[in-house]
Amino acid sequence: MDFVRVELADRSYTIYISSGLMGEIGDFLTPFNLTSKNMLITNPTVYGLYGQRLLNSIHSKDIHCKCLIIPDGETYKDYFWAYHILSEMLKEGLDRKSCLFALGGGVIGDITGFCASIYMRGIPFIQIPTTLLAQVDSSVGGKTGVNHPLGKNMIGSFYQPMAVFIDTNTLNTLPNREFLAGMAEVIKYGVIWDDELFQYLDTYKDEIFTLAPARISHIIRRCCEIKAEIVGKDEKEQNIRAILNFGHTIAHALETETNYEVFKHGEAVAIGMVAEANIAKILGITDDVTVKKITDLIFAYGLPTYIPMSLNKDSLIHHMQKDKKSLVGRITIITPKRIGEVKVTKDVDIQHIKPSLNLLEVRDEKDIGD
Ligand SMILES: NC(=O)c1ccc[n+]([C@@H]2O[C@H](COP(=O)([O-])OP(=O)(O)OC[C@H]3O[C@@H](n4cnc5c(N)ncnc54)[C@H](O)[C@@H]3O)[C@@H](O)[C@H]2O)c1
Ligand SMILES: [Zn+2]
Repeated sequence: MDFVRVELADRSYTIYISSGLMGEIGDFLTPFNLTSKNMLITNPTVYGLYGQRLLNSIHSKDIHCKCLIIPDGETYKDYFWAYHILSEMLKEGLDRKSCLFALGGGVIGDITGFCASIYMRGIPFIQIPTTLLAQVDSSVGGKTGVNHPLGKNMIGSFYQPMAVFIDTNTLNTLPNREFLAGMAEVIKYGVIWDDELFQYLDTYKDEIFTLAPARISHIIRRCCEIKAEIVGKDEKEQNIRAILNFGHTIAHALETETNYEVFKHGEAVAIGMVAEANIAKILGITDDVTVKKITDLIFAYGLPTYIPMSLNKDSLIHHMQKDKKSLVGRITIITPKRIGEVKVTKDVDIQHIKPSLNLLEVRDEKDIGD
């Protein structure tokens, strides 16, 4: 078992990482003193795989826990389904001491955390992430929320979980495309913070592809440590936390332009990292060698590195200017200096962005997205 601590004063918590943890989570709940009614939120896919095992473990400790299943998919991470969850919580009589358990990927984690944050002005919640993306990224750090037709993740809060339980065995059932999309975020941590991790991902590629338990545990633990360290320094993204957005300025534009239908989030981040590394080169912040290292590793993990030719570059730039993270039309890019170190570059000139997008254009669209 690995433990990673997220240090945030009275909101500190532990991330528990182990293979086969799902059936043992109940054993770790005693310190939380869960005496009220509690609720597990999940979707049919994850419930079918892990729901009963988790519930048995919780119930074996005489902890009261109902299960609420919402449909599977990003389209259900919205206000309507949050309202539905809140209504069920009220009907079940959950009170201020009740706890929500989020069992699933980032969609379940985000909507559950959001409901926990607003129900009776905030009740405890526990994350049990089952996708690689959720294990290394979304379950840690306390960003919660739902989508609005006018923008993704536009309604939300900063609200930390009480604990995070990661059973690395859950990756064995995860579709390969989801796993690789999560790997894009893993590569991101290497570029922004840790050249040793970056090197590790290169050296042990083959074993990571086959989900060798020791390799997988190592990368999940390392990513959680990095995220915990960054969030511990800047919980509400006033400064350094922004570096976690490496690749994301362009990724969000790609996702918006394609209506979230072409790319998995991690795939868009993969392209975004290559593009933003190229922008860093154009701006004289990094060199060819660094750009090539980043591009090669992303490619080696079977992730896209190109932008489909059909996408309109001007409208991508337009989306970047409207991104919630860019202040009044100014575009901020996280630019790598070398592997393991990035800088936040504000007010990037469009003239420097466009060439990097054109550079990444690919003509054979069959390569993209599927
Ligand atoms: N809060 C944050 O800091 C943060 C960070 C990054 C992303 N996000 C959010 O996370 C969401 C994406 O999360 P995601 O990539 O985990 O997608 P997801 O939650 O939609 O999960 C992907 C698919 O995998 C299925 N699944 C989950 N675990 C499985 C398992 N072990 N075996 C088989 N199938 C499994 C799910 O049912 C779903 O169909 C987005 O909404 C994004 O905005 C949030
Ligand atoms: Zn991301």
